[in-house]
Amino acid sequence: MTKKLPATLDLDARGLRKGLTSYGDNGFSLFLRKAFIKGAGYSDSALDRPVIGIANTGSAYNPCHGNVTQLIEALKRGIMLAGGLPMDFPTISIHESFAYPTSMYLRNLMSMDTEEMIRAQPMDAVVLIGGCDKTVPAQLMGAASAGIPAIQLITGSMLTGSHRSERVGACTDCRRYWGKYRAEEIDDEEISDVNNQLVASVGTCSVMGTASTMACIAEALGMTVPGGASPPAVTADRMRIAELTGAQAVAIARQGLTIDKILTEDAFENAMRVLLAIGGSTNGIVHLAAIAGRLGLDIDLKKLDRMGKDTPVLLDLKPSGQHYMEDFHKAGGMATLFRQLKPLLKLSALTVTGRTLGEEIELAGPGFAQDVVKTMDDPIYPQGGMAVLEGNLSPGGAIIKQSSADPGLMEHEGRAVVFENAADLANRIDSDDLDVTKDDVLVLKNIGPKGAPGMPEAGYIPIPKKLAIQGIKDIVRISDGRMSGTAFGTIVLHVTPESAIGGPLAYVQNGDRIRLSVSKREISLLVSDAELQRRRELSPITPPTAERGYKKLFLDTVTQADQGVDFDFLRAVRPADPASGE
Ligand code: FES
Repeated sequence: MTKKLPATLDLDARGLRKGLTSYGDNGFSLFLRKAFIKGAGYSDSALDRPVIGIANTGSAYNPCHGNVTQLIEALKRGIMLAGGLPMDFPTISIHESFAYPTSMYLRNLMSMDTEEMIRAQPMDAVVLIGGCDKTVPAQLMGAASAGIPAIQLITGSMLTGSHRSERVGACTDCRRYWGKYRAEEIDDEEISDVNNQLVASVGTCSVMGTASTMACIAEALGMTVPGGASPPAVTADRMRIAELTGAQAVAIARQGLTIDKILTEDAFENAMRVLLAIGGSTNGIVHLAAIAGRLGLDIDLKKLDRMGKDTPVLLDLKPSGQHYMEDFHKAGGMATLFRQLKPLLKLSALTVTGRTLGEEIELAGPGFAQDVVKTMDDPIYPQGGMAVLEGNLSPGGAIIKQSSADPGLMEHEGRAVVFENAADLANRIDSDDLDVTKDDVLVLKNIGPKGAPGMPEAGYIPIPKKLAIQGIKDIVRISDGRMSGTAFGTIVLHVTPESAIGGPLAYVQNGDRIRLSVSKREISLLVSDAELQRRRELSPITPPTAERGYKKLFLDTVTQADQGVDFDFLRAVRPADPASGE
Protein backbone atom coordinates (compact mmCIF):
# COMPACT_ATOMS: atom_id res chain seq x y z
CA MET A 1 0.00 0.00 0.00
CA THR A 2 1.37 3.43 -0.91
CA LYS A 3 1.67 5.79 1.96
CA LYS A 4 -0.01 9.20 1.56
CA LEU A 5 2.52 12.03 1.56
CA PRO A 6 2.23 14.66 4.31
CA ALA A 7 0.65 17.89 2.99
CA THR A 8 4.01 19.64 3.02
CA LEU A 9 5.43 17.01 0.68
CA ASP A 10 2.71 16.92 -1.97
CA LEU A 11 4.11 17.19 -5.45
CA ASP A 12 1.91 19.90 -6.92
CA ALA A 13 4.49 21.69 -9.08
CA ARG A 14 4.59 25.08 -7.38
CA GLY A 15 7.10 26.77 -5.13
CA LEU A 16 9.72 24.43 -3.71
CA ARG A 17 8.06 21.51 -5.52
CA LYS A 18 9.03 22.80 -8.97
CA GLY A 19 11.79 21.17 -11.00
CA LEU A 20 12.69 18.36 -8.62
CA THR A 21 16.23 17.00 -8.80
CA SER A 22 16.29 13.57 -10.48
CA TYR A 23 16.74 10.77 -7.97
CA GLY A 24 14.18 8.48 -9.60
CA ASP A 25 11.69 9.10 -6.73
CA ASN A 26 10.00 12.50 -6.65
CA GLY A 27 8.77 12.12 -3.10
CA PHE A 28 12.33 11.49 -1.95
CA SER A 29 13.61 14.41 -4.06
CA LEU A 30 11.23 16.83 -2.30
CA PHE A 31 11.94 15.27 1.11
CA LEU A 32 15.68 15.77 0.57
CA ARG A 33 15.30 19.31 -0.78
CA LYS A 34 13.27 20.34 2.25
CA ALA A 35 15.69 18.66 4.64
CA PHE A 36 18.57 20.71 3.21
CA ILE A 37 16.78 24.06 3.13
CA LYS A 38 15.59 23.47 6.70
CA GLY A 39 19.27 23.33 7.58
CA ALA A 40 19.15 27.09 6.95
CA GLY A 41 16.36 27.44 9.50
CA TYR A 42 13.27 27.60 7.25
CA SER A 43 9.89 26.37 8.55
CA ASP A 44 7.31 24.35 6.61
CA SER A 45 5.04 27.36 6.61
CA ALA A 46 7.71 29.55 4.95
CA LEU A 47 8.46 26.84 2.41
CA ASP A 48 4.82 26.57 1.43
CA ARG A 49 4.67 30.07 -0.03
CA PRO A 50 5.18 31.16 -3.65
CA VAL A 51 8.94 31.21 -4.21
CA ILE A 52 10.37 34.36 -5.78
CA GLY A 53 13.89 33.96 -7.14
CA ILE A 54 16.10 37.05 -7.09
CA ALA A 55 18.97 37.15 -9.58
CA ASN A 56 21.69 38.75 -7.46
CA THR A 57 24.25 40.51 -9.64
CA GLY A 58 26.18 42.18 -6.84
CA SER A 59 29.93 42.03 -7.40
CA ALA A 60 32.95 43.91 -6.11
CA TYR A 61 33.89 44.30 -9.78
CA ASN A 62 30.62 46.06 -10.55
CA PRO A 63 30.16 49.47 -8.85
CA CYS A 64 27.12 50.08 -11.08
CA HIS A 65 25.48 47.41 -8.91
CA GLY A 66 26.94 48.72 -5.64
CA ASN A 67 23.46 49.04 -4.06
CA VAL A 68 22.38 45.44 -4.69
CA THR A 69 22.55 44.48 -0.98
CA GLN A 70 20.10 47.25 -0.08
CA LEU A 71 17.89 46.44 -3.09
CA ILE A 72 17.65 42.80 -2.03
CA GLU A 73 16.67 43.84 1.49
CA ALA A 74 13.87 46.05 0.11
CA LEU A 75 12.82 43.37 -2.39
CA LYS A 76 12.60 40.75 0.35
CA ARG A 77 10.47 43.11 2.43
CA GLY A 78 8.07 43.54 -0.49
CA ILE A 79 7.98 39.81 -1.24
CA MET A 80 7.31 38.80 2.36
CA LEU A 81 4.69 41.53 2.93
CA ALA A 82 2.88 40.07 -0.08
CA GLY A 83 3.12 36.50 1.25
CA GLY A 84 5.98 35.14 -0.85
CA LEU A 85 9.29 33.51 -0.02
CA PRO A 86 12.35 35.33 -1.42
CA MET A 87 15.33 33.24 -2.54
CA ASP A 88 18.27 35.18 -3.94
CA PHE A 89 20.90 33.43 -6.03
CA PRO A 90 24.10 34.65 -7.70
CA THR A 91 24.61 34.99 -11.43
CA ILE A 92 27.35 36.45 -13.57
CA SER A 93 27.67 40.22 -13.25
CA ILE A 94 29.32 42.31 -15.97
CA HIS A 95 30.75 45.82 -15.66
CA GLU A 96 31.76 47.77 -18.75
CA SER A 97 35.22 48.72 -17.55
CA PHE A 98 36.10 45.41 -15.92
CA ALA A 99 35.30 42.98 -18.73
CA TYR A 100 38.06 41.82 -21.06
CA PRO A 101 38.08 41.93 -24.04
CA THR A 102 34.67 43.61 -23.95
CA SER A 103 31.44 43.24 -21.98
CA MET A 104 29.51 42.28 -25.11
CA TYR A 105 31.65 39.14 -25.44
CA LEU A 106 30.12 37.98 -22.12
CA ARG A 107 26.49 39.14 -22.52
CA ASN A 108 25.33 35.87 -24.07
CA LEU A 109 27.15 33.85 -21.39
CA MET A 110 25.33 35.86 -18.71
CA SER A 111 22.04 35.26 -20.50
CA MET A 112 22.70 31.51 -20.54
CA ASP A 113 23.63 31.56 -16.85
CA THR A 114 20.43 33.50 -16.03
CA GLU A 115 18.22 31.21 -18.16
CA GLU A 116 19.64 27.98 -16.80
CA MET A 117 19.61 29.06 -13.14
CA ILE A 118 15.95 30.12 -13.53
CA ARG A 119 15.20 26.73 -15.06
CA ALA A 120 17.30 24.70 -12.62
CA GLN A 121 16.05 26.17 -9.33
CA PRO A 122 12.47 26.12 -8.05
CA MET A 123 10.81 29.53 -8.37
CA ASP A 124 7.33 30.75 -9.33
CA ALA A 125 8.61 34.13 -10.53
CA VAL A 126 11.98 35.81 -10.81
CA VAL A 127 13.19 39.33 -10.09
CA LEU A 128 16.12 40.32 -12.29
CA ILE A 129 18.43 42.91 -10.70
CA GLY A 130 20.32 44.55 -13.53
CA GLY A 131 21.77 47.92 -14.38
CA CYS A 132 25.17 48.10 -16.06
CA ASP A 133 24.92 48.05 -19.85
CA LYS A 134 24.89 44.34 -20.75
CA THR A 135 23.19 43.03 -17.62
CA VAL A 136 19.59 44.08 -18.35
CA PRO A 137 19.63 42.71 -21.92
CA ALA A 138 21.30 39.49 -20.76
CA GLN A 139 18.67 39.02 -18.05
CA LEU A 140 15.73 39.77 -20.34
CA MET A 141 17.15 37.38 -22.96
CA GLY A 142 17.60 34.62 -20.39
CA ALA A 143 14.22 35.16 -18.73
CA ALA A 144 12.46 35.28 -22.12
CA SER A 145 13.93 31.87 -22.93
CA ALA A 146 13.11 30.45 -19.48
CA GLY A 147 9.51 31.58 -19.90
CA ILE A 148 8.33 31.98 -16.27
CA PRO A 149 6.82 35.19 -14.77
CA ALA A 150 9.66 37.72 -14.53
CA ILE A 151 10.09 41.33 -13.50
CA GLN A 152 13.09 43.64 -13.94
CA LEU A 153 14.53 45.72 -11.11
CA ILE A 154 16.98 48.37 -12.32
CA THR A 155 19.85 49.30 -9.98
CA GLY A 156 19.48 53.01 -10.89
CA SER A 157 21.79 55.75 -12.04
CA MET A 158 24.72 57.29 -10.17
CA LEU A 159 24.61 60.85 -8.85
CA THR A 160 26.41 63.62 -10.73
CA GLY A 161 29.65 65.15 -9.42
CA SER A 162 31.20 68.58 -9.66
CA HIS A 163 34.55 69.52 -11.17
CA ARG A 164 35.66 73.09 -10.48
CA SER A 165 31.98 74.14 -10.28
CA GLU A 166 31.00 72.31 -13.45
CA ARG A 167 28.49 69.47 -13.11
CA VAL A 168 29.93 66.22 -14.47
CA GLY A 169 28.84 62.60 -14.83
CA ALA A 170 29.93 59.39 -16.48
CA CYS A 171 30.48 58.98 -19.15
CA THR A 172 29.83 61.66 -21.77
CA ASP A 173 31.95 63.98 -19.63
CA CYS A 174 34.66 61.26 -19.31
CA ARG A 175 35.02 61.34 -23.08
CA ARG A 176 34.78 65.12 -23.32
CA TYR A 177 37.51 65.64 -20.72
CA TRP A 178 39.71 62.94 -22.27
CA GLY A 179 39.28 64.70 -25.63
CA LYS A 180 40.41 67.97 -24.01
CA TYR A 181 43.42 66.20 -22.50
CA ARG A 182 44.38 64.68 -25.88
CA ALA A 183 44.04 68.10 -27.47
CA GLU A 184 46.36 69.44 -24.72
CA GLU A 185 43.66 71.85 -23.51
CA ILE A 186 43.98 70.56 -19.91
CA ASP A 187 47.01 69.25 -18.01
CA ASP A 188 47.86 66.09 -16.01
CA GLU A 189 46.68 67.62 -12.74
CA GLU A 190 43.25 68.57 -14.07
CA ILE A 191 42.62 65.22 -15.74
CA SER A 192 43.50 63.56 -12.45
CA ASP A 193 41.14 65.89 -10.53
CA VAL A 194 38.22 65.24 -12.84
CA ASN A 195 38.81 61.49 -12.53
CA ASN A 196 37.69 61.78 -8.89
CA GLN A 197 34.43 63.52 -9.77
CA LEU A 198 33.02 61.73 -12.80
CA VAL A 199 31.41 58.91 -10.80
CA ALA A 200 30.00 60.49 -7.67
CA SER A 201 28.25 57.42 -6.23
CA VAL A 202 27.41 53.81 -6.99
CA GLY A 203 24.92 53.28 -9.80
CA THR A 204 24.88 53.27 -13.58
CA CYS A 205 26.14 56.01 -15.91
CA SER A 206 24.20 59.22 -15.39
CA VAL A 207 23.57 60.12 -19.04
CA MET A 208 21.54 58.42 -21.78
CA GLY A 209 24.11 55.69 -22.30
CA THR A 210 23.24 52.06 -22.79
CA ALA A 211 22.36 51.45 -19.12
CA SER A 212 19.85 54.32 -18.99
CA THR A 213 18.59 53.34 -22.44
CA MET A 214 17.95 49.76 -21.33
CA ALA A 215 16.30 50.97 -18.11
CA CYS A 216 13.85 53.10 -20.16
CA ILE A 217 13.37 50.24 -22.64
CA ALA A 218 12.64 47.77 -19.83
CA GLU A 219 9.87 50.06 -18.57
CA ALA A 220 8.59 50.64 -22.13
CA LEU A 221 8.47 46.86 -22.64
CA GLY A 222 6.27 46.63 -19.55
CA MET A 223 8.92 44.66 -17.64
CA THR A 224 9.29 47.02 -14.63
CA VAL A 225 6.78 48.44 -12.20
CA PRO A 226 5.68 51.98 -13.19
CA GLY A 227 8.48 54.46 -12.58
CA GLY A 228 11.08 51.67 -12.40
CA ALA A 229 13.50 53.21 -14.90
CA SER A 230 14.58 56.51 -13.44
CA PRO A 231 15.21 56.69 -9.65
CA PRO A 232 18.95 57.06 -8.92
CA ALA A 233 20.64 54.13 -7.17
CA VAL A 234 21.11 55.73 -3.75
CA THR A 235 17.64 57.25 -3.30
CA ALA A 236 14.67 56.28 -1.17
CA ASP A 237 12.59 56.21 -4.37
CA ARG A 238 14.82 53.42 -5.71
CA MET A 239 14.31 51.38 -2.53
CA ARG A 240 10.54 51.91 -2.68
CA ILE A 241 10.59 50.69 -6.29
CA ALA A 242 12.43 47.58 -5.05
CA GLU A 243 9.82 46.93 -2.34
CA LEU A 244 7.01 47.39 -4.88
CA THR A 245 8.81 45.11 -7.34
CA GLY A 246 8.99 42.39 -4.69
CA ALA A 247 5.27 42.61 -3.98
CA GLN A 248 4.43 42.63 -7.70
CA ALA A 249 6.63 39.57 -8.25
CA VAL A 250 4.39 37.65 -5.84
CA ALA A 251 1.30 38.88 -7.71
CA ILE A 252 2.58 37.74 -11.13
CA ALA A 253 3.63 34.40 -9.63
CA ARG A 254 0.07 33.87 -8.35
CA GLN A 255 -1.46 35.04 -11.65
CA GLY A 256 0.92 32.98 -13.80
CA LEU A 257 1.66 36.14 -15.82
CA THR A 258 4.50 34.69 -17.89
CA ILE A 259 7.03 36.85 -19.72
CA ASP A 260 5.76 35.96 -23.20
CA LYS A 261 2.47 37.74 -22.36
CA ILE A 262 4.43 40.96 -21.73
CA LEU A 263 7.11 40.78 -24.43
CA THR A 264 4.79 40.92 -27.44
CA GLU A 265 5.22 42.60 -30.83
CA ASP A 266 3.38 45.65 -29.48
CA ALA A 267 5.76 45.83 -26.51
CA PHE A 268 8.76 45.81 -28.85
CA GLU A 269 7.19 48.54 -30.97
CA ASN A 270 6.75 50.65 -27.82
CA ALA A 271 10.39 49.98 -26.94
CA MET A 272 11.53 51.14 -30.40
CA ARG A 273 9.45 54.34 -30.07
CA VAL A 274 11.01 55.04 -26.71
CA LEU A 275 14.52 54.24 -27.97
CA LEU A 276 14.05 56.86 -30.71
CA ALA A 277 12.40 59.46 -28.45
CA ILE A 278 15.04 59.32 -25.73
CA GLY A 279 17.96 59.65 -28.18
CA GLY A 280 18.94 56.23 -26.83
CA SER A 281 22.14 54.31 -27.28
CA THR A 282 22.66 52.57 -30.61
CA ASN A 283 23.37 49.45 -28.55
CA GLY A 284 19.69 49.43 -27.62
CA ILE A 285 18.68 48.21 -31.05
CA VAL A 286 21.18 45.32 -30.94
CA HIS A 287 19.88 44.25 -27.53
CA LEU A 288 16.24 44.58 -28.57
CA ALA A 289 16.93 42.34 -31.58
CA ALA A 290 18.52 39.76 -29.27
CA ILE A 291 15.63 39.81 -26.74
CA ALA A 292 13.02 39.62 -29.52
CA GLY A 293 14.92 36.75 -31.12
CA ARG A 294 14.46 34.72 -27.94
CA LEU A 295 10.68 34.92 -28.51
CA GLY A 296 10.75 34.14 -32.21
CA LEU A 297 10.29 37.80 -33.15
CA ASP A 298 12.39 40.02 -35.42
CA ILE A 299 13.27 43.70 -35.11
CA ASP A 300 12.82 45.24 -38.54
CA LEU A 301 15.49 47.92 -39.07
CA LYS A 302 13.53 49.46 -41.96
CA LYS A 303 10.53 49.83 -39.65
CA LEU A 304 12.75 51.46 -37.02
CA ASP A 305 13.92 53.95 -39.63
CA ARG A 306 10.31 54.68 -40.73
CA MET A 307 9.27 55.15 -37.11
CA GLY A 308 12.21 57.50 -36.63
CA LYS A 309 10.79 59.90 -39.20
CA ASP A 310 7.74 60.66 -37.02
CA THR A 311 9.28 60.15 -33.57
CA PRO A 312 11.19 63.24 -32.43
CA VAL A 313 13.81 63.15 -29.67
CA LEU A 314 11.98 64.53 -26.62
CA LEU A 315 14.37 63.76 -23.81
CA ASP A 316 16.93 66.48 -23.16
CA LEU A 317 19.70 64.29 -21.72
CA LYS A 318 23.39 64.06 -22.57
CA PRO A 319 24.85 63.18 -25.03
CA SER A 320 22.00 64.44 -27.31
CA GLY A 321 20.92 67.16 -24.84
CA GLN A 322 22.08 68.70 -21.56
CA HIS A 323 20.51 66.99 -18.50
CA TYR A 324 21.32 63.84 -16.48
CA MET A 325 19.20 60.87 -15.34
CA GLU A 326 18.52 62.33 -11.89
CA ASP A 327 16.93 65.35 -13.64
CA PHE A 328 14.77 63.01 -15.71
CA HIS A 329 13.61 61.35 -12.52
CA LYS A 330 12.74 64.69 -10.91
CA ALA A 331 10.80 65.55 -14.08
CA GLY A 332 8.54 62.55 -13.54
CA GLY A 333 10.55 59.89 -15.35
CA MET A 334 8.96 57.64 -17.93
CA ALA A 335 5.39 58.67 -17.08
CA THR A 336 6.20 62.18 -18.37
CA LEU A 337 7.69 60.75 -21.56
CA PHE A 338 4.84 58.28 -22.11
CA ARG A 339 2.32 61.12 -21.75
CA GLN A 340 3.97 63.01 -24.61
CA LEU A 341 4.44 59.93 -26.77
CA LYS A 342 0.95 58.57 -26.11
CA PRO A 343 -0.44 59.06 -29.65
CA LEU A 344 2.43 56.92 -31.01
CA LEU A 345 2.31 54.09 -28.45
CA LYS A 346 0.53 50.73 -28.51
CA LEU A 347 -1.54 51.41 -25.40
CA SER A 348 -3.04 47.94 -25.09
CA ALA A 349 0.35 46.30 -24.43
CA LEU A 350 0.26 44.48 -21.08
CA THR A 351 2.74 45.29 -18.30
CA VAL A 352 3.92 43.35 -15.24
CA THR A 353 1.28 45.12 -13.16
CA GLY A 354 -1.37 43.17 -15.07
CA ARG A 355 -2.61 46.51 -16.44
CA THR A 356 -1.97 47.89 -19.91
CA LEU A 357 0.48 50.67 -20.70
CA GLY A 358 -2.48 52.94 -21.50
CA GLU A 359 -4.01 52.26 -18.08
CA GLU A 360 -0.69 53.00 -16.39
CA ILE A 361 -0.40 56.33 -18.23
CA GLU A 362 -3.91 57.27 -17.01
CA LEU A 363 -3.06 56.22 -13.44
CA ALA A 364 0.09 58.37 -13.49
CA GLY A 365 -2.09 61.50 -13.68
CA PRO A 366 -1.72 64.78 -15.58
CA GLY A 367 1.95 65.60 -14.89
CA PHE A 368 3.52 68.95 -14.01
CA ALA A 369 5.70 71.69 -15.51
CA GLN A 370 9.28 70.59 -16.16
CA ASP A 371 11.99 71.17 -18.77
CA VAL A 372 13.64 67.77 -19.29
CA VAL A 373 11.01 66.05 -21.44
CA LYS A 374 10.10 68.28 -24.35
CA THR A 375 6.78 68.32 -26.22
CA MET A 376 6.11 66.88 -29.68
CA ASP A 377 5.78 70.48 -30.97
CA ASP A 378 9.08 71.57 -29.49
CA PRO A 379 11.46 68.58 -29.51
CA ILE A 380 15.20 68.74 -29.05
CA TYR A 381 15.66 66.93 -32.39
CA PRO A 382 12.90 66.69 -35.05
CA GLN A 383 13.45 63.01 -35.89
CA GLY A 384 14.32 59.87 -33.94
CA GLY A 385 17.78 59.65 -32.43
CA MET A 386 19.09 57.12 -34.91
CA ALA A 387 18.83 56.43 -38.63
CA VAL A 388 19.40 53.20 -40.54
CA LEU A 389 21.79 53.43 -43.50
CA GLU A 390 22.18 51.09 -46.46
CA GLY A 391 24.37 50.92 -49.53
CA ASN A 392 27.08 48.80 -51.09
CA LEU A 393 29.29 49.27 -48.03
CA SER A 394 26.64 47.83 -45.69
CA PRO A 395 24.11 45.63 -47.51
CA GLY A 396 22.73 44.37 -44.17
CA GLY A 397 22.36 47.87 -42.74
CA ALA A 398 24.30 50.24 -40.51
CA ILE A 399 23.28 52.72 -37.81
CA ILE A 400 24.09 56.37 -37.18
CA LYS A 401 23.06 58.29 -34.07
CA GLN A 402 22.05 61.41 -35.93
CA SER A 403 20.94 63.34 -32.84
CA SER A 404 24.50 63.49 -31.52
CA ALA A 405 26.26 63.92 -34.90
CA ASP A 406 27.62 67.12 -36.47
CA PRO A 407 24.87 68.46 -38.80
CA GLY A 408 27.60 69.71 -41.15
CA LEU A 409 28.90 66.18 -41.74
CA MET A 410 25.63 64.35 -42.34
CA GLU A 411 25.96 64.82 -46.11
CA HIS A 412 29.61 64.16 -46.79
CA GLU A 413 31.97 62.59 -49.30
CA GLY A 414 35.57 61.96 -48.37
CA ARG A 415 38.73 59.93 -48.80
CA ALA A 416 39.04 56.72 -46.74
CA VAL A 417 41.81 56.50 -44.14
CA VAL A 418 41.82 52.81 -43.23
CA PHE A 419 42.82 50.99 -40.04
CA GLU A 420 42.87 47.20 -40.37
CA ASN A 421 41.99 46.47 -36.73
CA ALA A 422 41.99 47.96 -33.22
CA ALA A 423 45.72 47.38 -32.74
CA ASP A 424 46.53 49.13 -36.02
CA LEU A 425 44.36 52.05 -34.89
CA ALA A 426 46.11 52.27 -31.50
CA ASN A 427 49.53 52.20 -33.19
CA ARG A 428 48.91 54.88 -35.80
CA ILE A 429 46.04 57.20 -34.80
CA ASP A 430 48.32 59.68 -33.02
CA SER A 431 51.23 59.39 -35.41
CA ASP A 432 52.54 62.63 -36.92
CA ASP A 433 52.93 60.71 -40.19
CA LEU A 434 49.25 59.79 -40.44
CA ASP A 435 47.99 61.12 -43.76
CA VAL A 436 44.66 62.55 -42.65
CA THR A 437 42.61 65.73 -42.94
CA LYS A 438 39.33 66.80 -41.35
CA ASP A 439 37.50 66.00 -44.60
CA ASP A 440 38.58 62.35 -44.64
CA VAL A 441 36.56 59.34 -43.49
CA LEU A 442 38.19 57.13 -40.85
CA VAL A 443 37.47 53.43 -41.45
CA LEU A 444 38.11 50.78 -38.79
CA LYS A 445 37.80 47.10 -39.74
CA ASN A 446 37.59 43.89 -37.71
CA ILE A 447 35.72 45.11 -34.65
CA GLY A 448 32.44 43.33 -35.48
CA PRO A 449 30.84 40.38 -33.63
CA LYS A 450 33.50 37.89 -34.79
CA GLY A 451 36.26 40.32 -35.61
CA ALA A 452 37.47 41.56 -32.25
CA PRO A 453 35.66 39.33 -31.07
CA GLY A 454 32.58 40.59 -29.25
CA MET A 455 31.87 43.78 -31.22
CA PRO A 456 33.59 46.12 -28.76
CA GLU A 457 32.66 49.77 -28.28
CA ALA A 458 35.66 50.83 -30.32
CA GLY A 459 33.54 52.49 -33.02
CA TYR A 460 34.10 55.82 -31.26
CA ILE A 461 37.39 56.22 -33.09
CA PRO A 462 39.36 59.06 -31.47
CA ILE A 463 40.05 62.19 -33.47
CA PRO A 464 43.67 61.81 -34.68
CA LYS A 465 45.88 63.86 -32.37
CA LYS A 466 47.20 66.06 -35.16
CA LEU A 467 43.60 67.12 -35.92
CA ALA A 468 42.51 67.30 -32.27
CA ILE A 469 45.17 69.87 -31.44
CA GLN A 470 43.93 71.96 -34.39
CA GLY A 471 40.57 72.08 -32.61
CA ILE A 472 38.77 69.52 -34.82
CA LYS A 473 35.94 68.01 -32.74
CA ASP A 474 34.26 65.68 -35.24
CA ILE A 475 35.06 63.71 -38.39
CA VAL A 476 33.12 60.96 -40.20
CA ARG A 477 34.01 57.55 -38.80
CA ILE A 478 32.83 54.09 -39.96
CA SER A 479 33.24 50.62 -38.46
CA ASP A 480 31.54 47.29 -37.90
CA GLY A 481 31.76 47.80 -34.15
CA ARG A 482 29.58 49.49 -31.56
CA MET A 483 29.87 52.74 -29.65
CA SER A 484 29.01 53.59 -26.08
CA GLY A 485 25.69 55.36 -25.75
CA THR A 486 27.55 58.06 -23.85
CA ALA A 487 29.65 58.92 -26.92
CA PHE A 488 28.90 61.44 -29.65
CA GLY A 489 30.02 62.31 -33.20
CA THR A 490 29.27 61.54 -36.85
CA ILE A 491 29.89 57.85 -36.45
CA VAL A 492 28.52 55.01 -38.61
CA LEU A 493 28.29 51.78 -36.64
CA HIS A 494 27.21 48.11 -36.89
CA VAL A 495 28.21 47.85 -40.59
CA THR A 496 26.71 44.50 -41.61
CA PRO A 497 28.01 42.05 -42.70
CA GLU A 498 31.19 42.67 -40.75
CA SER A 499 34.66 42.71 -42.33
CA ALA A 500 35.89 39.57 -40.50
CA ILE A 501 33.46 37.41 -42.48
CA GLY A 502 34.13 39.15 -45.80
CA GLY A 503 31.64 42.02 -45.76
CA PRO A 504 32.43 44.85 -48.21
CA LEU A 505 34.09 46.84 -45.41
CA ALA A 506 36.95 44.31 -45.56
CA TYR A 507 37.90 45.55 -49.03
CA VAL A 508 38.00 49.30 -48.43
CA GLN A 509 41.47 50.71 -49.21
CA ASN A 510 43.21 53.96 -48.30
CA GLY A 511 42.19 56.65 -50.76
CA ASP A 512 38.83 55.11 -51.79
CA ARG A 513 35.98 57.61 -51.80
CA ILE A 514 33.09 57.07 -49.38
CA ARG A 515 29.74 58.87 -49.45
CA LEU A 516 27.52 59.37 -46.39
CA SER A 517 24.05 60.79 -46.95
CA VAL A 518 21.88 60.62 -43.85
CA SER A 519 18.99 62.30 -45.71
CA LYS A 520 19.07 59.49 -48.33
CA ARG A 521 19.94 56.88 -45.67
CA GLU A 522 22.99 55.95 -47.75
CA ILE A 523 26.50 54.73 -46.98
CA SER A 524 28.37 53.95 -50.20
CA LEU A 525 31.85 52.94 -51.24
CA LEU A 526 32.46 54.69 -54.56
CA VAL A 527 34.29 51.75 -56.06
CA SER A 528 32.92 49.65 -58.95
CA ASP A 529 31.49 46.16 -58.38
CA ALA A 530 34.16 44.76 -60.71
CA GLU A 531 36.97 46.32 -58.66
CA LEU A 532 35.44 45.05 -55.41
CA GLN A 533 35.20 41.55 -56.89
CA ARG A 534 38.86 41.78 -57.99
CA ARG A 535 39.88 42.70 -54.43
CA ARG A 536 37.79 39.81 -53.04
CA GLU A 537 39.52 37.29 -55.28
CA LEU A 538 42.95 38.73 -54.48
CA SER A 539 42.49 38.57 -50.69
CA PRO A 540 39.94 35.93 -49.69
CA ILE A 541 38.79 36.17 -46.05
CA THR A 542 38.90 33.27 -43.60
CA PRO A 543 36.48 33.90 -40.72
CA PRO A 544 38.16 33.66 -37.31
CA THR A 545 37.84 30.55 -35.16
CA ALA A 546 39.26 29.20 -31.90
CA GLU A 547 40.51 25.85 -30.64
CA ARG A 548 38.39 25.46 -27.53
CA GLY A 549 36.20 26.90 -24.81
CA TYR A 550 33.79 29.81 -24.74
CA LYS A 551 35.72 31.61 -27.49
CA LYS A 552 35.09 28.67 -29.83
CA LEU A 553 31.38 28.66 -28.96
CA PHE A 554 31.27 32.41 -29.51
CA LEU A 555 33.07 32.47 -32.85
CA ASP A 556 31.23 29.44 -34.23
CA THR A 557 27.71 30.59 -33.37
CA VAL A 558 27.51 34.36 -32.93
CA THR A 559 25.13 36.16 -35.29
CA GLN A 560 25.50 39.59 -36.89
CA ALA A 561 24.24 42.90 -35.46
CA ASP A 562 20.85 42.68 -37.19
CA GLN A 563 20.13 39.49 -35.22
CA GLY A 564 21.32 40.97 -31.96
CA VAL A 565 24.78 39.32 -31.84
CA ASP A 566 23.09 36.44 -30.02
CA PHE A 567 24.21 32.85 -30.46
CA ASP A 568 22.27 31.25 -33.31
CA PHE A 569 21.20 28.27 -31.18
CA LEU A 570 19.68 30.50 -28.48
CA ARG A 571 17.18 32.20 -30.78
CA ALA A 572 13.67 30.76 -30.62
CA VAL A 573 12.56 28.92 -33.73
CA ARG A 574 8.94 29.70 -32.86
CA PRO A 575 7.14 31.78 -30.26
CA ALA A 576 8.14 30.41 -26.85
CA ASP A 577 5.66 28.04 -25.21
CA PRO A 578 6.33 28.22 -21.46
CA ALA A 579 4.15 25.15 -20.81
CA SER A 580 6.56 23.02 -22.84
CA GLY A 581 9.51 23.92 -20.64
CA GLU A 582 11.51 24.54 -23.81
FE1 FES B 1 28.03 50.57 -15.77
FE2 FES B 1 28.18 52.80 -17.43
S1 FES B 1 29.78 51.53 -16.69
S2 FES B 1 26.46 51.77 -16.63
